[in-house]
Amino acid sequence: MATCSAPGKIYLFGEHAVVYGESAIACAVELRTRVCAKRSDSVRISSDIGTTGIDFEIHPYVSKVIEKLGSMKVSVEISSDLPVGSGLGSSAAVTIATLAAINIEFGLGYDHEEIARMGHEIEKEVQGAASPTDTFVSTFGGVVQIPSRKRLSMVECGVVIGNTNKGATPKKTAKLVKHVAMLRDEYPDVIDPIIRTIGSFAERGELLVRDRDYISLGRLMNVNHGLLDALGVGTSELSSLVYAARNTGAFGAKITGAGGGGCMVALTDSPDRVASAIEAAGGQAIVTAFTKEGVRQE
Ligand code: PMV
Repeated sequence: MATCSAPGKIYLFGEHAVVYGESAIACAVELRTRVCAKRSDSVRISSDIGTTGIDFEIHPYVSKVIEKLGSMKVSVEISSDLPVGSGLGSSAAVTIATLAAINIEFGLGYDHEEIARMGHEIEKEVQGAASPTDTFVSTFGGVVQIPSRKRLSMVECGVVIGNTNKGATPKKTAKLVKHVAMLRDEYPDVIDPIIRTIGSFAERGELLVRDRDYISLGRLMNVNHGLLDALGVGTSELSSLVYAARNTGAFGAKITGAGGGGCMVALTDSPDRVASAIEAAGGQAIVTAFTKEGVRQE
């Protein structure tokens, strides 16, 4: 029996702009999906949503992992701290943790690079398209600049996630990416500068993270939120949580991930106060921490 866990992630800067080749910064957070893999006489996948065999409707990521690694007979048990489809990389975390657990249980000998690469292929096969960000950050952990994959220093302040518990549908990211593309086709002179400006935050962010300048980092997160709103991926619920966090003194707060509902993220040195404000504004607050550790054996 082998148990592995892999973390989810937030975007400090750059979602949507990365689709157009701009830089982003993603950070692993200490919210994990744990997967226990055990040799068995048939395939069994069990999670909060039920127990199945190979099933591409209910457990598409784990089913693809098993298929890719050689259709072995394995029993897989999943438990997760990550809300599904909310921009925190839950599908990457389950994919990477399953790859790693089966890799150990069956002695397949893949290294982290290969696990990250297979994880990205599986996300693409299941979703049609996927950036390598989530699977990379889930495998290696830490604070990572995309697309360079440069590892930055750790962000050492508190982090609170606010979940609107709205809009978590499997096709949400694709729909919002399409919306931005449409806007850009129609108004390239308006939208391109917005996208480039969002990309510039990840460049500046690198230095601010190094200097532990969380005040400036937060200020730029606030601007990034405004620009995501301008691209039409915000919602009133997301903005209420963002403003609730800022009004209680968070360094900064913004949407994380595709938007259209899902989650926001705040940097703060008083996480409990920010969490209470998010809850009072109707969100579900998750106080967490950034983590250096990617996928690991438990
Ligand atoms: O909501 P998430 O965590 O899947 O993030 C989507 C990020 C986008 O930039 C909108 C799309 C992408 O694949 O990079």
